[in-house]
Amino acid sequence: MVRFNENYLNIKQSYLFSEIAKRVNDFCEANPDKKVIRLGIGDVTQPLGGLVIEALHSAVDEMSKAETFRGYGPEQGYDFLREGIRDYYKRNGVEIDADEIFVSDGAKSDTGNITDMFSVDNTVLVPDPVYPVYVDTNIMNGRNIIYMDGTAENGFLPMPDNNVRADIIYLCSPNNPTGAVYTKAQLKEWVGYANKNDSIILFDSAYECFVSEPELPRSIYSIEGAKNCCVEFCSLSKTAGFTGTRCGYTIVPKAIVKKASDGSEMSLNHMWNRRQTTKFNGVPYIVQRGAAAVFTEAGMAEAKAMIDNYRRNAELISRTMDEMGVRYTGGVNSPYIWFECPFGMYSWDFFDKMLNEIQVVGTPGAGFGKNGDNYFRLTSFNNYENTKEAMERFRSLFS
Ligand code: MLT
Repeated sequence: MVRFNENYLNIKQSYLFSEIAKRVNDFCEANPDKKVIRLGIGDVTQPLGGLVIEALHSAVDEMSKAETFRGYGPEQGYDFLREGIRDYYKRNGVEIDADEIFVSDGAKSDTGNITDMFSVDNTVLVPDPVYPVYVDTNIMNGRNIIYMDGTAENGFLPMPDNNVRADIIYLCSPNNPTGAVYTKAQLKEWVGYANKNDSIILFDSAYECFVSEPELPRSIYSIEGAKNCCVEFCSLSKTAGFTGTRCGYTIVPKAIVKKASDGSEMSLNHMWNRRQTTKFNGVPYIVQRGAAAVFTEAGMAEAKAMIDNYRRNAELISRTMDEMGVRYTGGVNSPYIWFECPFGMYSWDFFDKMLNEIQVVGTPGAGFGKNGDNYFRLTSFNNYENTKEAMERFRSLFS
């Protein structure tokens, strides 16, 4: 008799954002006359940039002619895109080789799929609150997870504890959901911990494009020693509005080599290459051409202009929190504003209150872990008019 993977019994019935979508859809069906403003899932609203559209169109044209048509591409991504990403890092002071970059359909898939690389015996360390994908994918594999507290006291930036031994550590900076950002000195401590304990840091930098303070790190590889112990995930979803277009990348340094139990050497870069060539057929050529346009200097300037719109929304949300005396983190160097639920409410109750009374959707902190029980997350990814209206409605909760 077939037996299912019973680890699935240990995860929540539905994924956080599916649960929210269901509750919002039910509300909309029951209240078709109400205008709901969505500041929940971090989904972008601005259209793709002109240079990206141009590149996509011209790639579509190439696909229409036998001489330029493309079939299967390299599973790791086309050289033109891998080299474009390498050059983008170089312009930001970080040297990586193009063959350390693996193009994918986004950071969510890769942060989940990377679990294939590690023994189920490994202990996983995650912050709480945390992006649920890191937790759920490890539970699906049956791995032991330990949590480190992210609280207002530590600025939602937990630091290594030398009394705790972890093999795999997930860090996300700028952080989803709290918007907090590690400094270089803090990341140096993490890299030191990982190298000392022979651990791996899985570093999610999907929100690096929101970092505006130049002294804050945008890549873990700006820290010395990180290439020996860190894998970095990034995505064009937030950088260039690719949530629906789908393209991201993972950097697996060639320096990460460990001894197997039989004494042979295992290179994580070779293993990931082996995994991707077996289980993945690459990102569509057309999409990769669009992505390559983002990594040019002109493409990045275009992306920055798009992000500036979201920054303006984040400022507006932060200002509203200040006015209403609500404590929050994020909003600067991040598209997320993470705040303490007003009126001492539990976050799912506050979610219902926001939806029923003012028709504004956010994300309840409880969905990110127990330390989020009394917190709430809003995103700056809607347009300015809707964000402004949502903030006017938010103020009305206090009158
Ligand atoms: C979020 O809202 O946390 C993100 O949009 C989720 C994601 O990027 O998968």
